[in-house]
Amino acid sequence: DHLPALLAAIPKAELHIHIEGSLEPEMIFALAQRNGVHLPYDSIEALRSAYAFTDLQSFLDIYYAGASVLLHEQDFYDMALAYLQRAARDNVVRAEIFFDPQTHTARGVAMETVVRGLRRACVDAHAQWGISAALILSFLRHLSEEEAFETLEQALPFLGEFIGVGLDSSELGHPPEKFARVFARCRELGLHVVAHAGEEGPPAYVWAALDVLGAERIDHGVRAVQDALLMQRLARERIPLTVCPLSNVKLRVFPDLARHSLPQLLQAGLAATINSDDPAYFGGYINDNFTQTFAALPQLDARDAWQLAHNSFAASFAPEADKRAWQ
Ligand code: ADE
Ligand code: ZN
Repeated sequence: DHLPALLAAIPKAELHIHIEGSLEPEMIFALAQRNGVHLPYDSIEALRSAYAFTDLQSFLDIYYAGASVLLHEQDFYDMALAYLQRAARDNVVRAEIFFDPQTHTARGVAMETVVRGLRRACVDAHAQWGISAALILSFLRHLSEEEAFETLEQALPFLGEFIGVGLDSSELGHPPEKFARVFARCRELGLHVVAHAGEEGPPAYVWAALDVLGAERIDHGVRAVQDALLMQRLARERIPLTVCPLSNVKLRVFPDLARHSLPQLLQAGLAATINSDDPAYFGGYINDNFTQTFAALPQLDARDAWQLAHNSFAASFAPEADKRAWQ
């Protein structure tokens, strides 16, 4: 069977990766030691064995604790460079990377420290491995709209350093409407707009992400299959979904990969893509997501693989000339 080799070799874009979710336990321990941060785990193995999630919130609690070791510009640089090196190995030629500044500014780390470290890694990775990388600032939806506005204010000096904004963290109880005004301001500033919706939340959150926030892509969106009208709209308007299969199984959005909605999304003509979300926590980088998903869903074939890769470039915010060259 040639499919796994093909899936690994196809050039692709990764559009849904949280850089804090690429922090491997080994790097969490190394940074804790370097920075004198105390961790409530005795060993790398003890930390890894805490990665037994039952839903999104149970993951987020551990993910935010892991990020507490990031203090200095070099820490953000090391984290992002490690991810980009690993992604390049998976034949990712374009990565659009979420970062959660509020997780860091809440601990007294300056916006400048976060952005400078991440940007320097993007520049160096491009020089070393040819990978094109860009940043998307993601607001934490469990915090207030006022805090999102403060975060945007802190990011204004770095407007040239990120290409867009997103919305992540605890979905249920925090609908897109909560952030209508801050996203309107981001659109006025010329930023791209995406939002997590339809991961644990209902199809109504996907509608609101599109109509209230002006989202150009939907992160996850896998619950759209519960709403036939929404499926028609996503297909007609070619609105990309950044799907993360291993994440969805680990956070129990689906009981197993064989019951993932990806085949239905592709069958309905949606612009679905495959991504890793938080690879250090969910047991795989982007090629692991491709190979395990295709192994569990035998109806997916080589044409679907090429379609998914094509969708990832079409959905990316890269310059049009780059997109044409990659497709
Ligand atoms: N932050 C990191 N990963 C996330 C996910 N899968 N959903 C919501 N917020 C996140
Ligand atoms: Zn995500």
